[in-house]
Order: sequence, then C-alpha cells, then structure tokens
Amino acid sequence: MFETESIFTLRSQLREWRLAQQRLAFVPTMGNLHAGHLRLVEAARGKADKVVVSIFVNPLQFGVGEDFANYPRTLDDDRQSLKAMGVDLLFVPTEVELYPVGQESTTRVQVPDLGDILCGATRPGHFEGVATVVAKLFNLVQPDIALFGKKDYQQLMVIRRMVSELNFPIKIVAMDTVREQDGLAMSSRNRYLTAEQRNQAPLLNQVLRHIADKLRSGSRDFMSLQTAAIEQLNSAGFRADYVEIRRCRDLQLPRPEDRELVVLAAAQLGSARLIDNVEIQAE
Ligand code: PAJ
Repeated sequence: MFETESIFTLRSQLREWRLAQQRLAFVPTMGNLHAGHLRLVEAARGKADKVVVSIFVNPLQFGVGEDFANYPRTLDDDRQSLKAMGVDLLFVPTEVELYPVGQESTTRVQVPDLGDILCGATRPGHFEGVATVVAKLFNLVQPDIALFGKKDYQQLMVIRRMVSELNFPIKIVAMDTVREQDGLAMSSRNRYLTAEQRNQAPLLNQVLRHIADKLRSGSRDFMSLQTAAIEQLNSAGFRADYVEIRRCRDLQLPRPEDRELVVLAAAQLGSARLIDNVEIQAE
C-alpha cells in the first residue's frame, strides 16, 4: 500500500494510474476505522481497479466545544486494516497540507438549506466543513466513484447535492449502515460511552424502528410519533436533539402522500453524540 501526506506525491501517483486507464474508487474517512468504514472499502474494491482511502480529522467540521481534540486517532491500526484489505493508496494529509492559509481564511463550500437543518441546526458550520473538505479531496483524488455510509444520512445528501451542483464527474455510492449485534450503529464515537451507557445506546435504533413500523402500518401522526420517541429517549438518560420523520429526497417535512420517508435522530448520551436513521417505504 502506497502512503503519503503530500498532495504533490498523491497527484504524481494518481496520474500514473489514470494514464494506465485505471478506474479509481475513493473512500474519505476521519480514521479510527471500524467495520462500517471497512465495508465501504470492501465495496470500493469490487467497483474499481484502484482504491484510495483518506484519513484526515477535519478541524473545519468540528464546532467550538466539540470533540476535535479528543477524536480517536489510531493511524497504526488503521494502516494495518487498510493494508489487509488491499487498499492501493492511503492519503493522510496534515492540517497545513490541506489548509495552508489556515482554516479561518480558507475558501469554503456551502450547501444552503440542506446543510442548515437537523444536525446542521445544532452544529452550525458542520456541513460547510464537510462539504469543503470533501470538495478539496475530490479535486485532489479525482476518483470515478466515491463511497459514503447512510449512517451519516444528511451528510450523504449534502455531498450528493454538492456533486450535482458543482458538476463533479463522480458517482456517489451509498452503503447501508453497519451495526453492532444489538442494533447500535457503529461509530468512532461509541467509544466515549461508559459500560452502562453502552447498554442504553441501542434504544436510539429501537425507537426509530418502532416509528418505522408504525409508518409502514399506515400511521401518519408524525408529530406524536416524534414526541413519544423523544420522551422515551430522555427518560432513559439520553438528551435527544431531534427525532424527525422526513422525506428521503430532500429531508423536508413529508406530506401525507409522500411514501419514501426516513426517520432521523440525534441524541447526546454521556459525552457521545449519537446519530442514526431508518429509511421507510410507506404503504
Ligand atoms: P467518518 O465518520 O470517519 O466516516 C467515513 C465514512 O464512513 C462516511 O461515509 C460514513 O458515513 C461512513 N460510516 C461511518 N460509520 C458507518 C457505519 N456504521 N456504517 C456504514 N458507514 C459508516 O464521515 C466522515 O468521516 C467525515 O465527515 C468525512 C466525510 C470523511 C469528511 O471529513
């Protein structure tokens, strides 16, 4: 596996592959890789000749008081996992390599509306940080396809819209959420949970699946389903940020006739902010 911190070296390696007509698949990550990330890498392997993975804990997408400093950094382990999966190139830029003018002054990419609701409302600037770094990485790697997880559903939608509106010639592939046996979505942030909180954590997925069942069997009382879920989470020790039933195509409020829905939630449990979602094809 070829590894570099340098944009110059990255580009010269990629140029060779492109000249040899190799198809490139790209998986951007922040590292601390788990089975959810590795599922993206495995799928990438099956879809292209060369697989490129980036690991970069992007300061631009963390708010003040969020976990940028504590975000788990496990490069040695990550490198071993990626090597074992046959990844061709690992790009691990430093902060100055990606933001040479400093993160305050750097050019940014904004995805209005979609970036401002749900998680964007609680985490102002978060999706701007994500869109900016992903746009930069797309320009650097210029892959044919890029893979993202549905676990970060809103992020996936933000990236799809950015790709469409900035005309990136890149196919975005979405992969299902990989879960622990008890339903908890795998996440690097799960390691912030105490043993007791870890036992409570699957409730987040359970309340979403309960709402999904109700919607599938014809319920359209969105408000009371959401409120009941929030109450259930809060009485179990979570601090629910939102539980929202939205339509898949644009994450706006559904009309009763909308059939493709997604239930999304974000909740704080101890020092971990957990997110999850379930897609529904309603009757
Ligand atoms: P990170 O949280 O490391 O996630 C990298 C990719 O792995 C994202 O596409 C995410 O949706 C996917 N992923 C994470 N947990 C998953 C799970 N349990 N099942 C399936 N896929 C999962 O998301 C980011 O990094 C950053 O915002 C990034 C896009 C790299 C920009 O900095």
